Amino acid sequence: MRVLLASSELEPYSKTGGLADMTAALGKYLARAGHQVGIVTPLHRSALVYARRQAEAALRARVPARRLPRDPARWEAALEPEMRNVIAPFDWALDLPLGPLHVRASVRRATPEPNLTIYFIDAPGFFDREGLYLDPVSKAEYWDNTERYLFFAKAVTNLARYLPWQPEIVHLHDWHTGLVPLLVRHQSWQEGWSPAPKTILTIHNLAPQGRCHGSKYALTNLPPYYFHTQAAEFWGDLNPLKAGLVFADALTTVSPTYAHEITTPQYGEGLDGLLLQRKSVLSGILNGVDYETWRTVDNPHLPAAYHRDDLCGKRTCKAALQAALNLPVRADVPLFGTVTRLDPQKGVDLILGALEEMLATGLQYVLLGSGRPDLELEFADLARRYPHQVAVVIGYQPALAHQIEAGADFYLMPSRFEPCGLNQMYSLRYGAIPVVRATGGLQDSVVDLREHADRADGIKFLEPTPRALVKAMRKALALWDNPPLLARYRYHGMSADFSWERSVRAYEDLYSRVLGH
Ligand code: ADP
Ligand code: GLC
Repeated sequence: MRVLLASSELEPYSKTGGLADMTAALGKYLARAGHQVGIVTPLHRSALVYARRQAEAALRARVPARRLPRDPARWEAALEPEMRNVIAPFDWALDLPLGPLHVRASVRRATPEPNLTIYFIDAPGFFDREGLYLDPVSKAEYWDNTERYLFFAKAVTNLARYLPWQPEIVHLHDWHTGLVPLLVRHQSWQEGWSPAPKTILTIHNLAPQGRCHGSKYALTNLPPYYFHTQAAEFWGDLNPLKAGLVFADALTTVSPTYAHEITTPQYGEGLDGLLLQRKSVLSGILNGVDYETWRTVDNPHLPAAYHRDDLCGKRTCKAALQAALNLPVRADVPLFGTVTRLDPQKGVDLILGALEEMLATGLQYVLLGSGRPDLELEFADLARRYPHQVAVVIGYQPALAHQIEAGADFYLMPSRFEPCGLNQMYSLRYGAIPVVRATGGLQDSVVDLREHADRADGIKFLEPTPRALVKAMRKALALWDNPPLLARYRYHGMSADFSWERSVRAYEDLYSRVLGH
């Protein structure tokens, strides 16, 4: 099949969360399954920085150190061809209307795998910025996010329409690409685009919808009749995600439980009625884990290797983590960890509440996260008050994320809602027993004792309260006091298989169904 994916984030080029991991892995494993795959993504500044680092490494590998140019101008000149190898210019000029304006952009291309091409939309005015969606200093959303991503949606549609290999499926991800199904539908009805590809929209998170003032509808350059409650309009506003939910040929989300949850008022973010109407085309496919990256053996980020039959290296990882974060190096003290965006979605306030009580048991807790300033301050304050038990790193550090998964005995993820969640699956593989709220993908990937006594690998709780989390953490401590049972949980968790091949088969079935094969 010929599939064009589109996402605003793509690992390793740009990432704020699991969307980047998911779209990169889906593209890679679809290509490995023999499909022709393209991925369209903005050329965010972080992608340029990554490409530059790759190019520099290639230059240093090719040219002996003594012959490398020292003069900055000559260095840039030497780097230029290497940059072209990493992200090559692509012969494609975009000149697209955005309301009364025309926006020009170019396209660059990378081919990291056979069958896989990444198309970067190079519009520096929109994407060459320090953050993806927010200014990292003020933490305020960029004022023109609507313009940026409506333009991106138009660029995706343009590639889908004119790429010579004619994608049969255009697979969109989240609100940034929500307008594409409507643009495709309109252009096929009104402009004779035939055969137009089928569109699929995957919801990674229903909360951000790109909702904005109705006057911004003019930026779509579409006729007024789509600004309607049965289309892109939502309570007088423009809602790009809603447009996608109405017009895509199929809808998916990233776990079966979340697929059901979003049809209820509790999780539906105001769109549950529409999702209920579209239930026959909505399904949930659990994300996979890219075990080439998330592995406990041959992992450059870890100080020691280990696997389910020999956990010796995990003890080394725990000691190294404790030492690195200035906690007492104690094998006998249970270490809990979390790596997360600091956002109410993730239930991190429940962790703050529960820890006040649970720290009395002597446990240690490590958090790596960034996000809402008030939550950052509260965690930093907790670490200041309990310097021998709590370590908090505010920031975004992929290597430390691996080290926490490997060093922790338990992993806390009390999300209020969780479309899929990747960290609980990483922690299963890394032998950090997940303690999770039973929602979305957490419900679908962790097995509690009450569900299957003989293959439990984690602890689940339901109420989104500190009290319920405290109870779950006490269960974790009971497990800690029972080493044979603890070992069994770990063994089951480390044996759980969420490899992408399985998820890709589910997407292949869906693509075939949508294409009517
Ligand atoms: P979400 O996408 O909702 O944030 P997921 O669990 O799907 O949640 O994915 C989160 C991804 O982002 C994981 O790969 C996780 O390791 C990574 N991550 C989150 N916060 C940080 C951080 N502060 N430093 C490094 N990696 C992080
Ligand atoms: C979103 C969700 C998360 C999911 C990720 C990848 O960011 O919040 O649950 O794992 O997308 O699909």
